Amino acid sequence: MRVLVTGGAGFIGSNLVDLLLENGHEVHVVDDFSRGREANLTSSGGGMRCPVHRVDVRSDALADVMSEVSPEVVFHLAAQIDVRVSVADPLGDAGRNVLGTLNVAEAARRAGTRKVVFTSSGGSIYGVPENLPVDEQAPLCPQSPYAASKISGETYLDTYRRLHGLDCTHLALANVYGPRQDPHGEAGVVAIFAGALLEGRATTVFGDGGNTRDYVYVEDVARAFLAAAGERGSGCRYNIGTGMQTSDRELHTLAATAAGAADRPEHAPARPGDVRFSALDAGAAARELGWKPEVTIADGVARTVEYFRSRR
Ligand SMILES: NC(=O)c1ccc[n+]([C@@H]2O[C@H](COP(=O)([O-])OP(=O)(O)OC[C@H]3O[C@@H](n4cnc5c(N)ncnc54)[C@H](O)[C@@H]3O)[C@@H](O)[C@H]2O)c1
Repeated sequence: MRVLVTGGAGFIGSNLVDLLLENGHEVHVVDDFSRGREANLTSSGGGMRCPVHRVDVRSDALADVMSEVSPEVVFHLAAQIDVRVSVADPLGDAGRNVLGTLNVAEAARRAGTRKVVFTSSGGSIYGVPENLPVDEQAPLCPQSPYAASKISGETYLDTYRRLHGLDCTHLALANVYGPRQDPHGEAGVVAIFAGALLEGRATTVFGDGGNTRDYVYVEDVARAFLAAAGERGSGCRYNIGTGMQTSDRELHTLAATAAGAADRPEHAPARPGDVRFSALDAGAAARELGWKPEVTIADGVARTVEYFRSRR
């Protein structure tokens, strides 16, 4: 099928592009390169692996690209991805994540697209859930403009499904890690640990190191997007995670072992606002989309460290 990936030059988007191309799909990328990198889409011959449209999802130019490409499915990943940035600049966050998503919905509707697969955030939209791992029935409890923007994106797309028959499925991702994640960002602790440990720089664990997250490998996540592109899951949200919790300290040990570095992080005070424990129940994705994570955290961290080692 012919598909369009917004945010396709980014970390998750470019891994999804690879999977789609491997499966023989015709892929177009839309990205404004605010964070994405051309290198993520460059083939061994030096050209782009697929057509790339340097377009902002908030702009009028998006409708032109969409009508020209006429994709059957749009995978919408382009977003402002940083919770702290959303707190500092809520209007900027809403511009990219709310108006951007609405513009994608409108352009997709006009282009006759069958379905939009939307990228939501399982780690933020449920707030601090009562039970872990949290499933999709838990009440929504956004505690950041970022979380609110993701819920808003789901709501707009659902509205377009009812109003215009433009189908949608939302994937609420856990903490995604793997090759091409930015090792210099604020988020993405696996990449941050991997980059620092390989370069012999100091690493920091906040608080007592006992905060946990549900880490899901990017190739598993790419498979979830493909699984959601069919007829199944119309109007539904699926949590995409492993259900397992890994503490910051455990993660450091895994990364240090894979990097062959000393497992001696520096300790800094706990950061205000950091959620203590987090894990997603992805049972619905298993039952309804036939999706399950396959890569263990030890294997995934080793692969990620190997990727960063090969880039040095
Ligand atoms: N990484 C995670 O753990 C995680 C967890 C939950 C949800 N998500 C979501 O997954 C999606 C992809 O995130 P990622 O981790 O790959 O981040 P990323 O920053 O690597 O990818 C986002 C991409 O979107 C592009 N982009 C941003 N604003 C744009 C705009 N206005 N127009 C066009 N392109 C734009 C960026 O240039 C970048 O290439 C995002 O929607 C994010 O909110 C990520």
